[in-house]
Amino acid sequence: MNHPTKPDVRPANPHFSSGPCSKHPGWNLENLNSAFLGRSHRATDGKARLKLAIDKTQALLGLPAGYVCGIMPGSDTGAFEAAMWNLLGPRGVDVLAWESFGSVWVGDAIKQLRIENVRGFEADYGSLPDLSRVDFSRDVVFTANGTAAGVKVPDYDWIPNDREGLTLLDATSAVFAQPIDWAKVDCLTFSWQKVMGGEAAHGMLILSPRAIERLETYRPPWPLPKLFRLTKGGKLIAEIFTGETINTPSMLALEDYLDALSWAEAIGGLPALHARADANAKMLNDWVDRTAWIDNLAVDRATRSNTGVCLKIVDPDVVGLNADAQAAFAKSIVAMLDKEGVAKDIGSYRDAPAGLRIWCGSTIETSDVEALLPWLDWAFAEAKSALAKAA
Ligand SMILES: Cc1ncc(COP(=O)(O)O)c(C=O)c1O
Repeated sequence: MNHPTKPDVRPANPHFSSGPCSKHPGWNLENLNSAFLGRSHRATDGKARLKLAIDKTQALLGLPAGYVCGIMPGSDTGAFEAAMWNLLGPRGVDVLAWESFGSVWVGDAIKQLRIENVRGFEADYGSLPDLSRVDFSRDVVFTANGTAAGVKVPDYDWIPNDREGLTLLDATSAVFAQPIDWAKVDCLTFSWQKVMGGEAAHGMLILSPRAIERLETYRPPWPLPKLFRLTKGGKLIAEIFTGETINTPSMLALEDYLDALSWAEAIGGLPALHARADANAKMLNDWVDRTAWIDNLAVDRATRSNTGVCLKIVDPDVVGLNADAQAAFAKSIVAMLDKEGVAKDIGSYRDAPAGLRIWCGSTIETSDVEALLPWLDWAFAEAKSALAKAA
């Protein structure tokens, strides 16, 4: 490859972080002027704003009748651990993981909850575990889109409708960007800071009628912190799912999430959100396909994420380096593009193989991904020159 000249067009927005993710186009602090601040979130108007976020989420996602949605403390982790702590225990559990977040849920089931009958199915970065080995007479826990690996489940066809166990999905980097087959989902969580580019603070917890039934018929043997308590006297605390949060939420973060939801509605709702993420990922993957030095970390194309796209450097001179030198090479590209104001936060996740991770979720403009591409080639060529000089 000839050394490309330094491009002169920069992405208008260099924010390609995988979380907190870029704000939506047109975002402005002034959009948050109607935030309900300095007042009790339990006041009628405060509760109404919280309920509005729930109602808009339900409508945008098209949740089936009987599914409930609540705002939880502690972002996605808070919502997902609350689900695990409340729902798991009465039957065996299969936990699937293919990157660091999924591995945390494996650790939670085995080491924290110490559920006796747990099977962990873990795959290396880039691959999925063998989904055909999952036993749906058990409860099943998985990450819909592994943000640190850029690998998603290809579809939900491997989950039977008539399963006995429950499915618990951490969908924080999938929801709003990838189709969710709700018939296959009993519990799903996500945070405001991901696909919608909201402020980090709260998690959303969605429960199916079967999950609610589990909550109302089963009492876990371990203690439940107040922040996780979803039932009282054996009944679902229905108010949590109408805006009466367990503890005090950030009304400013709430307003920001409402603003993101309004943006999503204005651009055409869920189909538009999906289409934007798909177009961004296609722009990036088409470049990957025609570029020799880089490849997608996801081995199977059907599992390539359209949000956090993870890339590995496959140039033979780089692959021939030891692991530390490979990581340093990737980091030098990341640092160059950061310094140039072209791309912020595109290093791979700290536990993932060295490489790049470029967020392509719905709040990103395809024109910005397009503008980034020649910069990636330029930075790679610069890093190669430095490598040759050092040799
Ligand atoms: C798949 C997945 N699960 C969990 C988390 C943790 O999310 P939070 O910081 O919102 O709790 C992340 C964050 O990147 C994630 O991508």
